[in-house]
Amino acid sequence: MVELKLSNGVGIPQLGMGTWQINDRGSLLEIIKAGYGLGYSLIDTAAAYSNEMAIGKVLEKLGIPREKLFLSDKVWNTNRGFDAVQEACRRSLKKLKTDYLDLYLIHWPASPKLHEAWESINAETWRGMEKLYEDGLVRAIGVCNFKIHHLEALFKTSEIVPMVNQLELHPGMPQLDLVSFCRGHNICIEASSPLGNGEILTNETLIALSQTKGKTVAQICLRYGVEKGLILIPKTTSTERLRENKGIYDFTLSPQEVSMIDSLPYCGGIGIDPDEVTEFG
Ligand SMILES: NC(=O)c1ccc[n+]([C@@H]2O[C@H](COP(=O)([O-])OP(=O)(O)OC[C@H]3O[C@@H](n4cnc5c(N)ncnc54)[C@H](OP(=O)(O)O)[C@@H]3O)[C@@H](O)[C@H]2O)c1
Repeated sequence: MVELKLSNGVGIPQLGMGTWQINDRGSLLEIIKAGYGLGYSLIDTAAAYSNEMAIGKVLEKLGIPREKLFLSDKVWNTNRGFDAVQEACRRSLKKLKTDYLDLYLIHWPASPKLHEAWESINAETWRGMEKLYEDGLVRAIGVCNFKIHHLEALFKTSEIVPMVNQLELHPGMPQLDLVSFCRGHNICIEASSPLGNGEILTNETLIALSQTKGKTVAQICLRYGVEKGLILIPKTTSTERLRENKGIYDFTLSPQEVSMIDSLPYCGGIGIDPDEVTEFG
């Protein structure tokens, strides 16, 4: 699997397995076993997905050596703050039956729309993340869904710049300004919902391009992310699609094709504005 480097030198697989909406232990066992066999090692979960315990049991059952995996997890909105984030991380480690995470992320920013003290809330949560990093419980730290104003505010007090910003990014939602801002600060972009939660796969422009390239629409979407140097975590419950989603390194998209995809209008996805997210999602 192709590996990218985070700003602290930690290697991260470019392609991983998303696990949102996979809760049942049997499905997790099947998909993680098949994925590992195909070369996937990055597993993206979150406290909010309610599947950490099942993933922990699956990993124990499969007996995959810990160092062969890249485990990424996220702290939920109800656990913001210096102490709360550290306690949440320790709970997650227990559920996942591991001593450390490879990447730990703040799931959503506290936003100016919903929290008067949003800047200090995010600053304190980040201070807790930095402590987890210093204590060696996590190999890399980052955020999710942080817009430019959230990052600019964080930079006023942070000692460590987030290594990753995981955000919704796919054809129809290229987030060009945010990507360029993150690049300028050496923050790696991880594309969540790189297939637009499956909704963008019927887009006619993407279908036409996939026919020209002799690839599937999902492969076009994922290759678009590769051309941009993104980390990609598509979710699938199908072994066949796990294999298909890996088939993105034997073709390229030209700069013209990438800019054509950049200019597509919104055509589906999650589409949640991080400034609108409450403690309940
Ligand atoms: N940080 C955040 O706030 C955040 C938000 C959203 C997502 N995420 C992360 O990003 C991961 C991926 O995002 P997502 O789950 O929203 O959706 P996604 O990966 O964009 O799309 C998943 C959908 O596409 C289908 N699919 C997968 N591969 C396919 C293929 N080759 N051909 C056709 N259909 C295919 C899946 O169906 P099947 O399962 O039936 O194959 C599923 O319906 C999540 O699981 C989660 O880990 C993070």
